[in-house]
Amino acid sequence: MSSFIIEGGTKLNGEVRISGSKNASLPIIAASILNGGETTLYNVPNIHDTQITLKILKKLGCKIKKNKEKIEINSTYITQKEISEDLMREMRSTVILAGALIGRFKEATFSYPGGCDIGARPIDLHLKAFKKLGINIEEEYGFIRCSCDKIIGTNIDLDFPSVGATENIILASVLAEGKTTITNAAREPEIVDLVKMLKKMGAKISGEGTNIIEINGVKKLEDVKYRIMPDRIEAGTFLCAGAITGGNIKIINAIPEHLVPIISKLEEANCKIKIENNIIIIDAPQRLKAIEIKTMPYPGFPTDLQSIFGTVLSVAKGTSIITENIFENRFRYLAELKRMGAKIKQENNVAIISGVKRLSGTAVQSTDLRGGAAMVLAGLEAKGITKVSNIEYILRGYEDIDKKLNKLGANIYIKEGE
Ligand code: UD1
Repeated sequence: MSSFIIEGGTKLNGEVRISGSKNASLPIIAASILNGGETTLYNVPNIHDTQITLKILKKLGCKIKKNKEKIEINSTYITQKEISEDLMREMRSTVILAGALIGRFKEATFSYPGGCDIGARPIDLHLKAFKKLGINIEEEYGFIRCSCDKIIGTNIDLDFPSVGATENIILASVLAEGKTTITNAAREPEIVDLVKMLKKMGAKISGEGTNIIEINGVKKLEDVKYRIMPDRIEAGTFLCAGAITGGNIKIINAIPEHLVPIISKLEEANCKIKIENNIIIIDAPQRLKAIEIKTMPYPGFPTDLQSIFGTVLSVAKGTSIITENIFENRFRYLAELKRMGAKIKQENNVAIISGVKRLSGTAVQSTDLRGGAAMVLAGLEAKGITKVSNIEYILRGYEDIDKKLNKLGANIYIKEGE
């Protein structure tokens, strides 16, 4: 276990370049299984979660070449169709590999997925959809074995617009017979990115980005080269790092239209935002104004930035109200934030935050990936030294967060083994 040591109080200033999207990389790496050939991906972030996904692909039989942010995957000789339990437990999104394996080989075995402890995170919607596609599912000794002779397109209505279930259905049905229609599909930009990559491989899909997606099965998919979109959650995190320190930051390589609810909430809190193509500039006031936030599926306010905003608002003037509608455990960071002097009351899925003038540095923990990043932002603002432990959570999703922050004038370093 390692920690970040942060000396707070510097206004961040300068430019930061956003890395490729974690949540788009994972299903796109999984999709490389489908063509039984070469996939070249650019702009893949070098973070724990992409490393684990590539490690699993290698175990399955893929040949992988890495050169910085370029990754070449050859999936011709996959021999294994079982995802080992130890790797599966390391992150939840490995469940996405099941859809790709079933799509190509009509079989896959995996265990219940791991990942951040931010709520129940069941996979019932994934399994229900697989069953509708004619896939047999047997569960024994904690393993889930999926198999079928062929996959036949059908209509799948999701009870909730789950991002992972939408991606898994797409991956399982691109090589199916006939048409699959997903209604109440998730609309997140990461799904659109996955579909763009699959279309470049020759898949026939329409409606991505809306709540009805149609997939017309094709017989074969081709080799592909694809550049992953920038990470909107990382971009939002750096905008908030600017906001909480009263700084002025230029975010380079972002897609502003993916960040509409974030930009509008920062403006509501009195930040000045300028947009020039793929650049977003934030000029934050001395003190922010309190606001209200409710997390929703895209295009609503993202749950992934709830803890980051909660932290920013802990030092805003007035009372902010945050409602978390997606993951019930995404308020665990509040206890840590309170240790730094924040004034917060939580009632079920609502947090009422009375802004204090300044936080105080102390020892806090990362409760999950985004909750950990929130503590880093708290440390940037706080008086004195903040020690954020369990930073392995943060490193799962943020590439070089410490280096990027230091370049903006922060004072943060890693202390190994604590
Ligand atoms: C993805 C993102 C995550 C983000 C989330 C919501 C990745 C790797 N992760 O997670 O960062 O916070 O979308 O935008 O892309 N649910 C069920 N049954 C299921 C599946 C989901 O009840 O079978 C529930 C979940 O418990 C949760 C809600 O649906 O309450 C949303 O989950 P989902 O959209 O599936 O999130 P993930 O794909 O896990």
